[in-house]
Amino acid sequence: MGHKPTITDIKERITQARSVTVLTGAGISADSGVPTFRGADGLWKNFRPEELASPDAFERDPRLVWEWYDWRRELLSTKTPNAAHEALVELEKRIADFWLITQNVDGLHRTAGSTQVSEIHGNIWKVRCTNCGMVESNHDVPIDILPSCTSCQGLLRPHIVWFGESLAREDLDASFSALQNCELLLIIGTSGVVYPAASFAPIAKEHGAFVVELNLDPTPNSDLVDVSFQGRARDIVPLLVTSSGNRG
Ligand code: OAD
Repeated sequence: MGHKPTITDIKERITQARSVTVLTGAGISADSGVPTFRGADGLWKNFRPEELASPDAFERDPRLVWEWYDWRRELLSTKTPNAAHEALVELEKRIADFWLITQNVDGLHRTAGSTQVSEIHGNIWKVRCTNCGMVESNHDVPIDILPSCTSCQGLLRPHIVWFGESLAREDLDASFSALQNCELLLIIGTSGVVYPAASFAPIAKEHGAFVVELNLDPTPNSDLVDVSFQGRARDIVPLLVTSSGNRG
């Protein structure tokens, strides 16, 4: 019976890899103080997603939805990337063929300096016009509740993929290509229950990738992946992916 690979074994594999894809979820930002969705302090413990994060909810009560997003933007405006986000920036620089897929809308990967990233659920710091479709950055805290488009005065909405909506074609294409062509997939801090991201581990495995999961708790992916580590992103990710392996 083979032994379970250690963090050092996996670090070695990552160092040798030509192509690495990383999938992140709320757990990586939890270490920056951002609430997760399904954890003990998770947002979905206190709020019903279909009342706040769906096209129907926005149609019914855009003010309520904007108030919730304004509250989240205010909370996020005080948060900064942690050692795990930073370690992935270093990894991007070292690996020839690298892609980061994140379900997080907080923008912390880009703030840290990641550039090869698909934010598949959108970005809370972007707004989109419900009339003309224009997307633009908006960092106002607080934001005008019921903000309007600078070009056509239409009602703006958060540029987020809500329940019942499809991911952008270009994000799906980039993600599938990265999953199908990587030697190694590293999954960090996601409960693995929201589709399509929940299907990313099996897709990468079917295409021959070695799949590593790091999460605080076991997930539905834990039995399917090649190695599953339990721990905090901020502690383990730097050990796995940085050349020094120890960022204090
Ligand atoms: P979840 O809240 O469902 O899961 C977060 C996972 O991170 C859990 O399995 C935790 O055990 C783990 N975790 C918590 N703290 C951690 C830490 N410090 N280090 C490592 N792991 C930790 O969040 P997601 O899987 O990202 O959709 O949720 C997926 C989607 O559901 C989100 O993108 C969001 C939500 O509805 C949209 O915003 C559109």
